[in-house]
Amino acid sequence: ALPPVMIQGPMPIEAQYFASLLNDVRTEKAGQATFYIGTFNGYPVVVAQTGKGLENTAAATAIGIERYHPRAIINQGTSGGHDPDLQVGDIVLGKRSVNASNFKTPFRDKGEGSAPLDWLPMDLLASEGSAGEGDSAKDAERIRYYVADAELLAAAHAVKDQYKRGKVVEGTIASGNFWNNELDRIAWLHTKFGTSTEEMETASAAQIAHSYGIPFLGIRVLSNNLTNGGHYDPSTATDCQAFVKLVIEQYIKHS
Ligand code: 5AD
Repeated sequence: ALPPVMIQGPMPIEAQYFASLLNDVRTEKAGQATFYIGTFNGYPVVVAQTGKGLENTAAATAIGIERYHPRAIINQGTSGGHDPDLQVGDIVLGKRSVNASNFKTPFRDKGEGSAPLDWLPMDLLASEGSAGEGDSAKDAERIRYYVADAELLAAAHAVKDQYKRGKVVEGTIASGNFWNNELDRIAWLHTKFGTSTEEMETASAAQIAHSYGIPFLGIRVLSNNLTNGGHYDPSTATDCQAFVKLVIEQYIKHS
């Protein structure tokens, strides 16, 4: 049998539309994850509703890879804009993703407080040694970006004009178990890390997919953007899945 393409979405609103497109579906569960195993246009597809956040996503990605051996993984869903030029409804193709909760804090003594905008990036994959102390610590003070698979990215570009809710741009998706509402912190992430939009999953899935050598792409719609007053709109979650449907059609056509 052909290996499936795996589509991940954290919440029901981010996975159920795509799951409803599948034929001959059976479901399997593992922890917080529900896997919908079926076909789409006759091609094997697994939709994974992963649950929210880095841990659920990492677990669902590893289990999904071990059980279903996907040929490619797309993580998609909603996000909050860091770039004032992006509107609610616009889509970011994650040319890169970054874990925006991996930091090392420079030393501060008792009574000196906490200064998050001085925090250093921390790359836990820099070496097998300690990221905090010893010989390998300095090497870890850098930003780790997960780069998108070129073929998946090309498939997304090929269909972007068919998306009518907003524009589709390449960018950097920031992931962490954070919902940032501090505009200075958002601007700091945007400037220092080049972030376009934030959410809680993509970099986690990317890290696991890369560790298994599986092609990966994150696709995130803006459901909110505090930097330009873009109010939360959950209907964007379905628009994102409808776009991902076009991407999958394009991707399997060329395989
Ligand atoms: N910040 C963080 N997560 C967000 N999400 C949507 N917008 C944001 C935001 N501004 C997504 C996350 C998570 C859920 C809370 O919504 O990916 O799954």
